[in-house]
Amino acid sequence: MTDTPTRIHGRLSVAPMMDWTTPPARYFLRLLAPHVRLYTEMVPAVALWHGAEARFMPFHAAEHPVAVQLGGSDPEELAHGARVAERWGYDEVNLNVGCPSDRVQSGRFGACLMLEAERVAECVAAMQAATALPVTVKTRIGVDHHDTEAFLDAFIDTVAAAGCRSFIVHARKAWLQGLSPKENREVPPLDYGRVHGLKARRPGLEIAINGGIADSATLHEELRHVDGVMVGREAFANPYALARWEHELFGTEVLGRRAAVEAYLPFVEARCSEGVPMTQLVKVLMGLFNGCPGARAWRRALTEGSQRRDAGPAVIEAALAHVAPRDAA
Ligand SMILES: Cc1cc2nc3c(=O)[nH]c(=O)nc-3n(C[C@H](O)[C@H](O)[C@H](O)COP(=O)(O)O)c2cc1C
Repeated sequence: MTDTPTRIHGRLSVAPMMDWTTPPARYFLRLLAPHVRLYTEMVPAVALWHGAEARFMPFHAAEHPVAVQLGGSDPEELAHGARVAERWGYDEVNLNVGCPSDRVQSGRFGACLMLEAERVAECVAAMQAATALPVTVKTRIGVDHHDTEAFLDAFIDTVAAAGCRSFIVHARKAWLQGLSPKENREVPPLDYGRVHGLKARRPGLEIAINGGIADSATLHEELRHVDGVMVGREAFANPYALARWEHELFGTEVLGRRAAVEAYLPFVEARCSEGVPMTQLVKVLMGLFNGCPGARAWRRALTEGSQRRDAGPAVIEAALAHVAPRDAA
């Protein structure tokens, strides 16, 4: 193992989030942050196995670099999913070993797979044999009472031995029983030190950290310890933070908020005419002006306007009237 980690994830990414990291949201976030890696919502490998590609796989060329996240625990299904991902042109295939929902556990995938490292290794090996794309794993620091450093190292080592070079680690463990998925993102305490320790002990692996990162100071501090940061909820609570971080990390001249919305409008028009509901198209915009004058009126105009039966892109144009006309920030 060399000490130079593979670079797949990069410095910053937006986390996979069901109902949030939809194609429209990813398109808009890409306008704000050209170099940030984007992840899809989790796609069940079994759905692809049964041919549901058209429902789950389409994405816009502007989204690159974009990773598809698969959920599953059957090596053959996951290998098929990896092949499909490559055919559709994704940049990475990520395996979900972090989600603790009951639905996911009954299908034996997600966080409960941390207890089956050999099976995860088999899945990763099968996926890698099926595609030239990088295969990465998103996981947690532990599950239930399996939460020691040694447990995490053993899990990572087993999966790395199967060929995975890049891991995203949500810095809290999951309780498989008794907590809702939402509570499992809030109740188990964050332990960034556990992820830093992993990176220090396994310098040849690319390790990105995830969980609770919502401000520049924490982002930059974390990048002193690990290779990359994955941001989830903050990317939607306050999407413009992504533009700021894009500028800070990559020096990009980013669009202002209003310019980003205007650049999004042609996409909205196209999707709207294909029948995509405006409620889905405005979801990513809700928090855009948080902290700016008119933010509340902007949200209300989007919420109310997008629910009307005849709603179209004009809803967004009308909402813009509530926020400052000149917006360079
Ligand atoms: C609404 C929602 C949906 C999520 N869906 C997924 C998912 O499909 N796959 C996954 O690996 N994690 C999922 N997560 C977890 C996030 O990817 C991330 O690990 C978690 O929110 C912690 O990061 P944060 O504190 O930056 O939000 C989801 C989180 C939220 C809030």
